[in-house]
Formats: sequence, C-alpha cells, structure tokens
Amino acid sequence: MSSWSVQSDGESQTLKLGEKLGRLLQQPTLVLLRGDLGAGKTVFARGVARGLGVDPIIPITSPTFTLMNHYQARLDLYHFDLYRLSEPDELIELGFDDYAYGSGVALVEWPEKLENSEISGLWVHLKRIDDDRREISFCLQGETDEKLITALQEICHWKQENNNGRDVD
Ligand SMILES: Nc1ncnc2c1ncn2[C@@H]1O[C@H](COP(=O)(O)OP(=O)(O)OP(=O)(O)O)[C@@H](O)[C@H]1O
Ligand SMILES: [Mg+2]
Repeated sequence: MSSWSVQSDGESQTLKLGEKLGRLLQQPTLVLLRGDLGAGKTVFARGVARGLGVDPIIPITSPTFTLMNHYQARLDLYHFDLYRLSEPDELIELGFDDYAYGSGVALVEWPEKLENSEISGLWVHLKRIDDDRREISFCLQGETDEKLITALQEICHWKQENNNGRDVD
C-alpha cells in the first residue's frame, strides 16, 4: 500500500489540489473521501470536477439529499454523499457498484457508510489542523496504478515547490 500526504493552507489550495488530481486522472477511478464534517471533502470534490473538465458554470455541491450527482466531463463524474444513507439496500437501488466500478470517476463522501475500509481505490483523508489548514493524505489501496502513483507524487511535489515560494502552476 502506498501513501502520501500534503498540507493545504486554505480552501483555495484544497481546490487546487483536487483540480490537479482531476486533470491527472486517466482512467476510471474510485475515490473515497474521508474526513469529519467540514473537513473539506466537497471542496476537494469540486476541484476534481474542475480538473476533469466539468463546465465551470455548473455548481458542484454536496449531493446530500439525492445521494449522487452525475456530471459529464472528460471522464464522467459520479459524486456521492452517503451521509444520509440509512440502509445498505439503498446502495443497490442507487446502482452504486455500477458507478463505482464503471467507466467514470466515482467520488464518495462518507465512505464509512459502506462499512468496508478494505475497498480498493484511492482513499483521500482530510484532517482539520486548524480553521484554515488541513492535512490531506492519499492512500492507494489494493491497486497498482502506476500513472496514478506518478500523479499523486506530482501533486505532493507541486505543493512542496509552492511552499518554497516558487511560482508553479
Ligand atoms: N484548507 C481548507 N481546505 C478545505 N476547506 C477549508 C480549508 N480551510 C477552511 N475550509 C473551510 O472548511 C469548509 C469545508 O466544507 P466542505 O463542505 O468541503 O466540508 P465537507 O468535508 O464536505 O463536509 P460535510 O461532511 O458536511 O459534507 C468550508 O467552509 C471551507 O471554506
Ligand atoms: Mg460535503
């Protein structure tokens, strides 16, 4: 299992990190976004959507009541928020597996509701440090997607360079 972590110093940086990931995703990927209420999961998801090329005029909001929002992009994006999932049967009704292991990118907020921490995919854990700062850790579980590993290294490297004050995009 490989893992990397990076510190975000504000909402715009989390957005940027998500956008970088979205731009670098090359194939169907399941992304599991862990973190407490207000940790920044939806902010990160918004960045991924932008990076995948979802039309910038479309707002990316948490699908709290609908459980899933679908956006068309370079790879289709299925954004889940399972916070209000009351029973696992609802996942079957939603067709969760078809999206999670389908032809697009599935982003899942509150993956704890799946009650399976062994799920293969890219786990992203956002932890609150203080009001503005978050620790974001990436853990690629059960997969050896070399391109994704390179992408994650690139993302963490970009942040390091940014911290050193260099003007990088
Ligand atoms: N570094 C940061 N990264 C992300 N969000 C930040 C950061 N610093 C402050 N924030 C604030 O934290 C909040 C994160 O909200 P967001 O809706 O993304 O959380 P969430 O994890 O999706 O919560 P929920 O579990 O309720 O869906 C926003 O108000 C944002 O402005
Ligand atoms: Mg959210």
